[in-house]
Amino acid sequence: MERLDTIAAVRAWRPPVGEVGFVPTMGALHEGHLTLVHRARAENDHVIVSIFVNPLQFGPSDDLDRYPRDLDSDLAHLEEAGVDGVFFPSVEEMYPDGFGTTVEVTGSLTDRLEAASRTGHFAGVTTVVAKLFQIVQASRAYFGMKDAQQLLVVAKMVRDLAIPTTIVPVPIVRESDGLAMSSRNVYLTPPQRAAAARIPVALDAGAAAYAAGAREGAALRDCVQRVLGDEPLLRAVYVSCAELGSLVEWETLGGPALLSVAVEVGSTRLIDNRWLGLDGESPDVG
Ligand code: PAJ
Repeated sequence: MERLDTIAAVRAWRPPVGEVGFVPTMGALHEGHLTLVHRARAENDHVIVSIFVNPLQFGPSDDLDRYPRDLDSDLAHLEEAGVDGVFFPSVEEMYPDGFGTTVEVTGSLTDRLEAASRTGHFAGVTTVVAKLFQIVQASRAYFGMKDAQQLLVVAKMVRDLAIPTTIVPVPIVRESDGLAMSSRNVYLTPPQRAAAARIPVALDAGAAAYAAGAREGAALRDCVQRVLGDEPLLRAVYVSCAELGSLVEWETLGGPALLSVAVEVGSTRLIDNRWLGLDGESPDVG
């Protein structure tokens, strides 16, 4: 496994033939990330993973300084997963003095949900992902459905800019009690961790109502909200049941929907979701 910390080193590493699969991450790797890596390994000739805690996507009150970092353990996991190259640039390498370009998707995908409480977050994500895509020149890039809005925003950027990398959505990987794996779960105290297990239960209640035929957006949102409301340690930031293409709230569902929540547990913000109406298929984001 090649350890690459400069853009020039990635360019020199990039194999001239064969398909390259790319998994962008911010490190502190867990089974969720590694599932993306295994998928990339199975579908490509070469696999490269990036580890970069991207300051552009953190707001002033976000957790940039306390974001978990463990490069040695990440490298050991990636080596074991059979990755060919790991790119872990410094902030100066990605954003040298004078860096002044922003790549920003506009419209309904980036003006609500995660964007409402995290100003500039998605512009930070699309700017770094666009730059990483330029550096790596991958055939395919793997994104988790846990960060559903991010996946939809990146897929739109790729379509709008005709970037020749296919975005592959990967289903959410969960702990045994259903909590979606997240690098931020380490912040939770034991009582908070126990309370957080109600988040997937709440989404299950919404998905069960959908399966039983409920199609009113408000009813589905209420269903989720009620279960979250039972747990005093959870504070719902939003409960959404939105049209997949636009993320505009559905009044009455007329197609696939994203049922999603952001929940504060103490000072930790967790997100989770269910994709409704896809019949077990991955969403077509191309
Ligand atoms: P990060 O939070 O490290 O996540 C990297 C990738 O892992 C994302 O595509 C995310 O959706 C996926 N992932 C995380 N937890 C998952 C889980 N439980 N199941 C499935 N996939 C999961 O997302 C980012 O980093 C950054 O915004 C990035 C895209 C790297 C740009 O900086």
